[in-house]
Amino acid sequence: MNKKISLPLSAPPGTEPEWPGQFDSWLCRLLPVGLPVYMITTKNENGTDNVQLNAWTLLTGRAPAELFLMVLWGGHTLRNALRTGEWVANVAPRSMGDRMFEVVRHNQPETDELAASGLTALPGEAVAASRVAEAVAHFECRLDWHREIAPGVALVAGQVVAASADQAILEGTPEQRVNALDILFYLPSLFNLASARLDGERYASLTPPDAGV
Ligand SMILES: Cc1cc2nc3c(=O)[nH]c(=O)nc-3n(C[C@H](O)[C@H](O)[C@H](O)COP(=O)(O)O)c2cc1C
Repeated sequence: MNKKISLPLSAPPGTEPEWPGQFDSWLCRLLPVGLPVYMITTKNENGTDNVQLNAWTLLTGRAPAELFLMVLWGGHTLRNALRTGEWVANVAPRSMGDRMFEVVRHNQPETDELAASGLTALPGEAVAASRVAEAVAHFECRLDWHREIAPGVALVAGQVVAASADQAILEGTPEQRVNALDILFYLPSLFNLASARLDGERYASLTPPDAGV
């Protein structure tokens, strides 16, 4: 049997984060479990599209489905989601490559971040927030409740009121469907307990890597 190592539940004393709050999600820094990357779209007050990359998204299997987001308190996504009560969680495929990071670079308030990032807005089926046409699946949500779970971090629960996906994800063998989804996993900078150092962040996928990312 493999040797089991008990894990510290918070960063060892004396370890310095590179930025405040970096160790708040400590176990994600210790274990390379990977978090699927979503693009969260909301409507700005001036009607333009705001986009956030979000890896702390959880789609639960209950009916009607619930989708949970962990979002930073000061960001535009939380402000818009609470004001409008709506958002879309778009599954960002690995084939989008660098383009998905454009939305982080274009982060001024009231900017049309979809257009500025060279992405295409598709109207939601049930909510005013747009779908990202280049994404491969979309969960349209209405706000259920939100709660501050740590200083500056909110957990937001939404009910999925409409869902859509590319046809290729719904047809073919399981392997073909997984390949069509082409999901990207984010591995935040990993902490090495032996050296007490952080190693750079990584991305992973279920299919072999290509030159796109
Ligand atoms: C791979 C990746 C994952 C991220 N995950 C989250 C997340 O789960 N929650 C969050 O609030 N910010 C997350 N961010 C940071 C936001 O995407 C970034 O700060 C964004 O520009 C803020 O958007 P907003 O002000 O429009 O909400 C992530 C960034 C990257 C690159």
